[in-house]
Amino acid sequence: MTQDAILIARSVFPEVEDKLRQHFQVETTPPGVVWSTAEFIERLRGKAGVLTTGGERIDAALLAACPQLKIVSNLAVGYNNFDLDAMSAAGVLGTNAPDVLTETTADFGFALLMATARRIAESEHYLRAGHWTQWSLDLFAGAEVHGSTLGILGMGRIGQAIARRGAHGFGMNVIYHNRSRLDADTEAACKARFVSKAELLAQADHLVLVLPYTPAAHHTIGAAEIAQMKPTATLINIARGGIVDDAALAKALREKRIAAAGLDVFEGEPKVHPDLLTVPNVVLTPHIASATIPTRTAMAMLAADNLIGYLVHGKPLTPLNPEVVA
Ligand code: DGY
Repeated sequence: MTQDAILIARSVFPEVEDKLRQHFQVETTPPGVVWSTAEFIERLRGKAGVLTTGGERIDAALLAACPQLKIVSNLAVGYNNFDLDAMSAAGVLGTNAPDVLTETTADFGFALLMATARRIAESEHYLRAGHWTQWSLDLFAGAEVHGSTLGILGMGRIGQAIARRGAHGFGMNVIYHNRSRLDADTEAACKARFVSKAELLAQADHLVLVLPYTPAAHHTIGAAEIAQMKPTATLINIARGGIVDDAALAKALREKRIAAAGLDVFEGEPKVHPDLLTVPNVVLTPHIASATIPTRTAMAMLAADNLIGYLVHGKPLTPLNPEVVA
């Protein structure tokens, strides 16, 4: 039987590529290369499947140009790069990579919260620049973490994992807002209390954003929401670029309307709003919340297993539009 041809849109670890090569004719990017949209579409023509990252937009125009495509397997839990309606209409399955990154991403959310609250990046730059000449009482005095109020916007699996760290590890008072309230057992396990969005903004000492990006979630946090936060608060975004209005945030940070922010995701990344690069009270990282070798390997393996599961066995592991399979 002829093997299906698939495309890997950004290079993956050798063991993942080797696994795919056992089942498919594989075309892949060289490490470090990112194709333009036009080149990506050109290479995708005639392929039955593709392993994407959140950086490749899958829309009606691409689907029309690639009629042999059957599955797009995203190497990410987020899939806002998919036009899922267009994919379903074209009979193309979408899959994502949930669960395997939950705890690692929550670890990073907490690391970013701590780095932001305790001014770790800012003070490290100060030391490296040779400015440290004496100890002083208020040198890089930051915000308290233990015992403070942790606000979480978006209480899915990662939000819950962050809540558990805050409540059980740091004795934090955890409040959250979500489209739907969690059941009582899950709230108890996270020691988290459901509040309105307004209360969340007003009460949180540290506000962590973990909600999925949808057009309705665009600029969920802008100037008006920042104005409702405590002037001592920190804001952490490990969700998606576009959920925060980055220009409004940079202005608010410069004007000290809130104390600090920690950002792993950006509007239009990998570009970063230039004003964010010049304010000192922000910690910036390049979308690495799930980036440990074991977790990124597990994510890539799950993405590969979705391609194999669907194209070879007819059974994807984590389908987003399962009606396409049925
Ligand atoms: C995800 O899995 O959605 C992460 O943000 C990596 O893209």
